Amino acid sequence: MMKHLTPKTKEAALLNNEERIRYLLTPKWIQYPRAEKIIKKMEDLMSYPTIDRMPNLLIVGSTNNGKTALIRHFEKNNSAYIRKDDDKLVVPVLLIQAPPEPDERSFYNKILEKLNVPIISSEKPDSKQRRIIFFFKEMNIKLLIIDEIHHVLSGSGHKQRLFLNVLKYLSNELKVSIVCAGIHDAFNVIQSDAQLANRFDNKILDTWVDNEDFYQLLINFEAFLPLKEPSMLIENSLATKILYRSEGLIGEITTILTLSTKLAIEKGKEKITHQILDSIDYKSPQDRKKSFRRFS
Ligand SMILES: Nc1ncnc2c1ncn2[C@@H]1O[C@H](COP(=O)(O)OP(=O)(O)O)[C@@H](O)[C@H]1O
Ligand SMILES: [Mg+2]
Repeated sequence: MMKHLTPKTKEAALLNNEERIRYLLTPKWIQYPRAEKIIKKMEDLMSYPTIDRMPNLLIVGSTNNGKTALIRHFEKNNSAYIRKDDDKLVVPVLLIQAPPEPDERSFYNKILEKLNVPIISSEKPDSKQRRIIFFFKEMNIKLLIIDEIHHVLSGSGHKQRLFLNVLKYLSNELKVSIVCAGIHDAFNVIQSDAQLANRFDNKILDTWVDNEDFYQLLINFEAFLPLKEPSMLIENSLATKILYRSEGLIGEITTILTLSTKLAIEKGKEKITHQILDSIDYKSPQDRKKSFRRFS
């Protein structure tokens, strides 16, 4: 029974409707081939020997296509621990969000904040840098991940160059690999700097298309939807409909599958069908833009 579900999801499918929906709405990590490759790459960077020019990685993808979910998942799997031999705190991965504006001070503050050390508002950027370098060594940080890197690589050419230098400086001084995640704009800015372009490998989270990888994603997804019968998303041309409406974005795919499962549960159905898919209260990104234009 319910061989299409993970053991936990199987248990959840047997609960009452309210509890099933609560389980459904709890965020989960769904594995997919592209993510596995990027995770493998990040693991390689973490165990890279310390050299003068550490290799870095830029994860590029459209908004709502899984960048943040991926690096948060990686951070969670590499969480801080106390080392047995000397009782020292080891923080393998430090993940920060770039501040919304390309401002050096707030950028360093984000790092200090995540390091959980005092932030002194009058402190000069170079002093902040020195403290950051100290704590990175102290906590044995192996990887610095910066999400939303396009925030600090936007703005005037001057600001862009400033932050390209910040990245170079940190990468030289910390001697840890830096992983950045951002939209395509960030890729262009980094490519514009020959030195950085050389040291940044790129991994792209393409929007989803009708191929094996997409089917694999749907199969993996279905295993976490607490429905008692298999929907066979990939066999009943449901996949095509889901792909079309989602515009190939994993965030939209998640929304569509979540809404459909919720509706199925509420209607006393045990699988996702075309009828369910057609009845959910969902607007694709294009439709949302259109209705926004109509009212503005
Ligand atoms: N691997 C995954 N497993 C489950 N849900 C995911 C996964 N990747 C993305 N999502 C869903 O898609 C949404 C958007 O992804 P996110 O990582 O925030 O996109 P981005 O950072 O590229 O804008 C997330 O809030 C989550 O619901
Ligand atoms: Mg994000």
